[in-house]
Formats: sequence, structure tokens, C-alpha cells
Amino acid sequence: MMDRKPKILIYDSEKDLAMGAALVFSEIAFDCAAAQGRFAVALSGGATPRAMYRLLAGEEHRTYIPWNSIHLFWVDERLVPRGDRESNYGGIRKELLRHLSLPEGQIHPIPVDIPAADGALQYEQSIRRFFRTEEGKAPVFDLIVLGLGEDGHTASLFPAHPALEEKEKLVLAVRGGMPDVDRITMTLPLINQASRIIVLASGKRKARIVARIVSGDPAYRPAPIRRIEPVNGKVLWMMDRNAASELAQ
Ligand code: 6PG
Repeated sequence: MMDRKPKILIYDSEKDLAMGAALVFSEIAFDCAAAQGRFAVALSGGATPRAMYRLLAGEEHRTYIPWNSIHLFWVDERLVPRGDRESNYGGIRKELLRHLSLPEGQIHPIPVDIPAADGALQYEQSIRRFFRTEEGKAPVFDLIVLGLGEDGHTASLFPAHPALEEKEKLVLAVRGGMPDVDRITMTLPLINQASRIIVLASGKRKARIVARIVSGDPAYRPAPIRRIEPVNGKVLWMMDRNAASELAQ
């Protein structure tokens, strides 16, 4: 459970937030590519992260990011066809992937064409194969990008859902959220192993939940986002002024 105040960066506008997040992404990509020749990142859906993906595909970043070291994973997925506007794969493909020419071996989408429980198992196995981790140990992503819902959800981990109590599985099938569809999501034991996590929030609609979580309001103790606490890594919250507008000075 998150006991300390998270580290927070506040930007003047949504656009500046996206620029800041794109910069953080590229710096971590560089560090990892230089240090270990590989950058494994898991991305979320949602409107706020999408603005950052769009920038990463733009001239300024696209040309110098070490794409050949990057392996892209998805934090969560809605079980809709990949071409659907609600697809997290589809969103990232539209904003980022179609502007790059990443080999398929570097792209690791969540299966959506088989039942959710099978898809979750298959995705967990593919993550384990990639990281070559033994049973009982969780892989360590170099970066996980998370969004934040107005109800305090993150990834597809919703308030009071039993998935929040998962201790072993790295990936689970769940149902819920908006849209209320079957989903596949990374679990806390996997997310909390990451070296770096960034939580992105923008807009007035997020102001209330951001303030409640950051102030440690006991009524919001069970919020999924409060359970994001990497065991050996760092979390950075990045938000625009609107999302930060109810934070105590
Ligand atoms: C999903 C997301 C979800 C999202 C938040 C914030 O697929 O539902 O991964 O966790 O990141 O709901 O979304 P917005 O940035 O659109 O508010």
C-alpha cells in the first residue's frame, strides 16, 4: 500500500505533459538500450497516454529513439477486435506503430481472438518466455506506463475486484470498466516488479481522485492505484495543471 507521497511532476498543459512523458520515455529507452541493449516497455490505453504515443511517433522523437532495442507490451486490453476504436492495441498502432517499422518480433500484443482466460494464460507465457523467468519469479519491465481512472483504477484493475488480491499470476482475465467488456490485464505482482512506472493523469475530471490519493484519504485506501508500489523500482506521477488543481499547495 502506498504510504509515502508519490513523486509528482506538474505541467502547464496537456500538451506539455505529453512532451514531458515522451522525454522521460526516450531517456529510459536510451539508458536501457545503452546499458543492456534492450528496452522492455508496457503501455496502457486511455486518452492521456495516447497523446504521448503520438509525440513519440513525431519527427522529433522518432528519428533518435533506439527503436531496434525496444520491445513493446500492453498493460491491458479490451477483448474487442484489433480494429475497434476501443482496442488498446489499435490505439497504439494508430498513434505509434504505423509510423515506425518495428519487426513483428518486437511487438507483443495481448491475444484477443481466443477466450479471455486462455488469452491471459498465453500472454503470461509469452512474457515469461521473453524474460526467461523461472516459475515463482516475476519479470522486470524497464518501464510501465499507467493511466488513472476517476474511480482510482489503473490498468484493468478495478476497485474491489478480486484480481487485486492476485499474488501469483502475472496476467488475468477480468470484466469491467468503461466499456464494460472482457479484458486481460497485468496484475499487481507483475506491475510492481517494474524498474520504472509512470502514472499519467490529465484534465479536471481527474483532479478529485488525484487529490484524494496523494493526500492519503482513508476513504480511498482500497483504490487500485494506491497498490502501485514497485518493490525495487521508482514511480513518477506526471499530470497537467487541471489534474493537479485540487492538490493541497
Ligand atoms: C484501459 C486503460 C485504463 C486507462 C485509464 C485512464 O484500457 O481502460 O488502460 O487503465 O489508462 O482508464 O484513461 P484516460 O487517460 O482515457 O482517462
